[in-house]
Amino acid sequence: MIYTRLGSTGLQVSRLFLGCGNFGGIGSAPAFYGRGETEAQAAALLDRAWDAGINVFDTADAYGGGRSETWIGNWLAAKGSAVRDQLVVSSKVFNPVAAGPNRRGLSRKHIMQQIDASLTRLRTDRLDMYLTHDVDPETPMEETLDAFNDLARAGKVLHIGASNIEAWRLAVARGISDRRGLARFAWVQNGYSLLDRSAEREMLPLCVDQHIGFTAFSPLAGGWLTGKYRSGQAYPAESRMTMRPEPYAHLTDARVFEGLDALDALARDRGVAMSTLALAWLLHQPGLTAAVIGPRKPEHLDAALAAVDIALTPEECAAITSCFEQPQ
Ligand SMILES: NC(=O)c1ccc[n+]([C@@H]2O[C@H](COP(=O)([O-])OP(=O)(O)OC[C@H]3O[C@@H](n4cnc5c(N)ncnc54)[C@H](OP(=O)(O)O)[C@@H]3O)[C@@H](O)[C@H]2O)c1
Repeated sequence: MIYTRLGSTGLQVSRLFLGCGNFGGIGSAPAFYGRGETEAQAAALLDRAWDAGINVFDTADAYGGGRSETWIGNWLAAKGSAVRDQLVVSSKVFNPVAAGPNRRGLSRKHIMQQIDASLTRLRTDRLDMYLTHDVDPETPMEETLDAFNDLARAGKVLHIGASNIEAWRLAVARGISDRRGLARFAWVQNGYSLLDRSAEREMLPLCVDQHIGFTAFSPLAGGWLTGKYRSGQAYPAESRMTMRPEPYAHLTDARVFEGLDALDALARDRGVAMSTLALAWLLHQPGLTAAVIGPRKPEHLDAALAAVDIALTPEECAAITSCFEQPQ
């Protein structure tokens, strides 16, 4: 495994984070609580990732309705303090966890309740990384940053970051923190892949310029970059496109399928899985700290791990990029 600093912090993180969004559900969606990986399957993935040197586990208070954090906590308790001391535990707050006007968002009240709930489920006294899961236009940014700062000062969280945030809002948030002497968002977790390059317009240039970490979720576009979806063919049973297709509906496009065929050909030439090449491309992008992967089986994880060892030339990166670029 290769490790790198998280933005301008001193924290060393693996270039792959294990995304635990499929543990006991599909992300934060209540309709899927209890689906996804079982606790035994989750434990097998945690074991394999840990053994391979992945030192960051990414979860959220709402993943699987709390199951994801609970199962990581159970795994940690079984492993003991030596593993806990080395592991970087990352969680998030924002999504609704119960009915009620104050059971969602980034208000001080919700954050203070959720940090204690997350620490209890994870069976730990601190989170190494803590993120706002989404933006909350209804709560003043100062209130959220003050609450996160208090958590940092109390030692309940070590580093704070933001997810699903725009570049302009991140710049504003860091300005507020600087003016008020508060802890600053040190990294971002946004979507980024060969099939979603919107981060390249403003966020990645900002992160490079300001030494902010950038961690990419959905690095395989929810499975599309594995080659499991083919033009004219039914989606595999139990795949994300059969369960929660909404975020990826725009990808059912002839040009995307042509691009996938081209990427598949490049991967075959190199003798690697398509998902491996797609992740290797991502890891070569300027400003990219790490990819937050979402394997469902140990063999998925092996394909991802292979990407870390692949060195691509600028010409090879350009050839991969061009699979999904239309001639002008
Ligand atoms: N901050 C946020 O808002 C946010 C949003 C999304 C995700 N995340 C984090 O990022 C993590 C990863 O996101 P993601 O799950 O969308 O990542 P992804 O890597 O883009 O997609 C994962 C999906 O790809 C498929 N897959 C992965 N490897 C495969 C392989 N080798 N062969 C065949 N299929 C393979 C599986 O699909 P099937 O399920 O179809 O088998 C799996 O569920 C999550 O677990 C979570 O921790 C954060």
